Amino acid sequence: MNVGEYLQNTFSLEGKNIILTGAAGGIGAELAKGLAHAGGNMILCDIAIDPLEKVAQDLRDEGCKAKAFRLDVTDTAALPGFVDAIDQEYGKLDVLINCAGVNKRIGFLDYDEATYDRIMNINLKGVFFLTQEVVKHMIPHKSGNIINVSSHNAVGMLGGCSVYGASKSAITALTRSMAVEWAKFGIRANAIAPGHILTQLTQVTWDNPERAKYLRERIAMQRPGLPSELVGVVVMLASDASSYMSGMMIHIDGGCLAGGMPWNYDTNY
Ligand SMILES: NC(=O)c1ccc[n+]([C@@H]2O[C@H](COP(=O)([O-])OP(=O)(O)OC[C@H]3O[C@@H](n4cnc5c(N)ncnc54)[C@H](O)[C@@H]3O)[C@@H](O)[C@H]2O)c1
Repeated sequence: MNVGEYLQNTFSLEGKNIILTGAAGGIGAELAKGLAHAGGNMILCDIAIDPLEKVAQDLRDEGCKAKAFRLDVTDTAALPGFVDAIDQEYGKLDVLINCAGVNKRIGFLDYDEATYDRIMNINLKGVFFLTQEVVKHMIPHKSGNIINVSSHNAVGMLGGCSVYGASKSAITALTRSMAVEWAKFGIRANAIAPGHILTQLTQVTWDNPERAKYLRERIAMQRPGLPSELVGVVVMLASDASSYMSGMMIHIDGGCLAGGMPWNYDTNY
């Protein structure tokens, strides 16, 4: 067996139907591309249908399998019908990646109820009820795989991210519950916790010299991650390479959680 065959056997997503929410976003679109090129049959979902159609079309132009579906994860009444229709069309749902998420950076004391509800409804309630519907369709097949996108903010707080941080901490707890309750159905669940990733939305932070300096000092690698640097781990989680892994959260953060930039210490190097 050559290297290509070995890697294909280990990490291939061929034959897997993969639902990805937030697929029009900075991270979601890059995950869509990586998973599709690894052989996944991509069921791309987002509330922003125009950019989503473009992600799907670009992938089809590259010879990949991808289709766009408009989905608002907060529309809990519509979720059962939506998932039923997808299940009928595809026959089997193999992987669900909950990537849709929002943030609003303001002080704890400045949040109003509507902003709180919006963040929680998308980041937590939407994940809960969409996953519930998808898993009901995975159970008869005795197999399934959930990947949740949490955040470094689940454990390390920046100021102004209280509601977002709470929603992402809750995602790690949900991931563990999913792993514990659904192992008997052959379903596993894991999460990734990206650190500071450079996307269109976070570009403004990195363009701000004071904030960029603050962030660099907290990242051992002293730079933001790229969405493409999340892809390998997500392919691993979506594939059978991680078949004995469940309930875990993998930090992809350039050494942020590890401690960031070191202080001055004696060294010859
Ligand atoms: N960018 C970072 O540094 C970073 C770090 C850690 C975690 N994350 C997480 O990664 C995920 C993707 O973030 P991103 O940086 O790509 O953000 P993004 O804003 O570029 O993408 C988020 C996507 O979610 C979609 N969305 C919003 N509300 C929705 C809804 N109700 N239903 C369906 N889709 C909806 C948006 O249309 C958008 O396409 C989020 O869960 C975010 O919390 C991002």
